[in-house]
Amino acid sequence: MFALNSIVLKGFRCYNDASFSFSNKNKIIFCGKNASGKTSVVEAIHYLAFAKSFRTNKDEELITSFDNNSSTLYLKGTFNDGTITEIGFDGSTKLIKVNGKRIKSIAEMIGYFMIGLFSPEDLLLVKGEPKIRRKYIDSSLCQVDSEYLRALQINKKVLKERNEYLKSLDCDASKLNNTYLDAITKTYIETCEIIERKRHNFINEINNISSNVASKISDEKDTIKIKLIPNVNVDNFWITYAERKMQDLYAKTTTWGPQRDDFSVEINGKDAYSSASQGQIRTTCISLKLAVVEYYKKITKNIIIILDDVFSELDEIRQNKILDFFDENYQVFITTTNINLLTKNALNNSEIIEMSRGE
Ligand SMILES: Nc1ncnc2c1ncn2[C@@H]1O[C@H](COP(=O)(O)OP(=O)(O)OP(=O)(O)O)[C@@H](O)[C@H]1O
Ligand SMILES: [Mg+2]
Repeated sequence: MFALNSIVLKGFRCYNDASFSFSNKNKIIFCGKNASGKTSVVEAIHYLAFAKSFRTNKDEELITSFDNNSSTLYLKGTFNDGTITEIGFDGSTKLIKVNGKRIKSIAEMIGYFMIGLFSPEDLLLVKGEPKIRRKYIDSSLCQVDSEYLRALQINKKVLKERNEYLKSLDCDASKLNNTYLDAITKTYIETCEIIERKRHNFINEINNISSNVASKISDEKDTIKIKLIPNVNVDNFWITYAERKMQDLYAKTTTWGPQRDDFSVEINGKDAYSSASQGQIRTTCISLKLAVVEYYKKITKNIIIILDDVFSELDEIRQNKILDFFDENYQVFITTTNINLLTKNALNNSEIIEMSRGE
């Protein structure tokens, strides 16, 4: 079993200076009241994998705010294969070291270990806003594909530039410099193409896996299908560019691209959003997340599972069925406010850590 042995947290969220060591039990349960720092620890574990939080895009928010003396965060993770990962962030520069050696970009971190994260937000995968579904695709793919991550980063940067330029034109077509717009759009389109191609392949993979997963966790043997809904013609972005140029000018923003994609979910051939039951939706959301872990399993054995909050909200049958996917070969971190809500299976071979804020 690949596992995190210990973690040191300094200036991270509510932790001024704390450390946790984990035994070789495969389930680690953080149990404590609301605001006792449970999510903060699993967030730190996630941060060790990608130098990125799952709760915020603003790293500054992670730095402990109640102690004015500290303006830097530092995390150190020690893994059971001997690897040591350290991350420091002082509000502007991020310093990442693996086994004492400096890592230059986050893309280089990718591939060492993957995280299967389950959080309450996942239960909104079917019914929530499109951005939740985009995040599902992006966070899953970024973990395994550094080219995707890079394309996404560049795409976002160019999109910002493009939107700023469109805004500066203030709906005045006579100000438009086509050569300049062509130039920034070229990079934009190049990255759109990579993103769309990879999203398409990812959705196909998940479709292949998810029905199998769904039939294991639902008694109804539901079949799930997801379908990417790109908002424009993805076969030729240059045509879209030409078609949307005036619309973009008057909207003062880019009206097309991966930032507007969505996907639909069907259960047994019917649109889940409008026809599925609450229970089916819940199971489907979890199946889609489990499918991602199954997809990771094809790539690596180094997977850590985080079940933040969501787990204790599920009934006994679902909890057990989820745990079936993570046998003794996976280290699973579970957070809960009430240990009594966990099944016997979850408590079996587990280490319980009682949390009190900023321990
Ligand atoms: N940058 C920060 N500096 C100091 N404290 C912070 C910072 N960010 C968050 N906190 C605080 O950390 C505490 C712990 O939050 P956390 O989300 O880890 O709790 P939790 O145990 O998961 O709670 P819940 O059961 O409600 O999910 C909260 O009181 C929160 O306000
Ligand atoms: Mg929490």
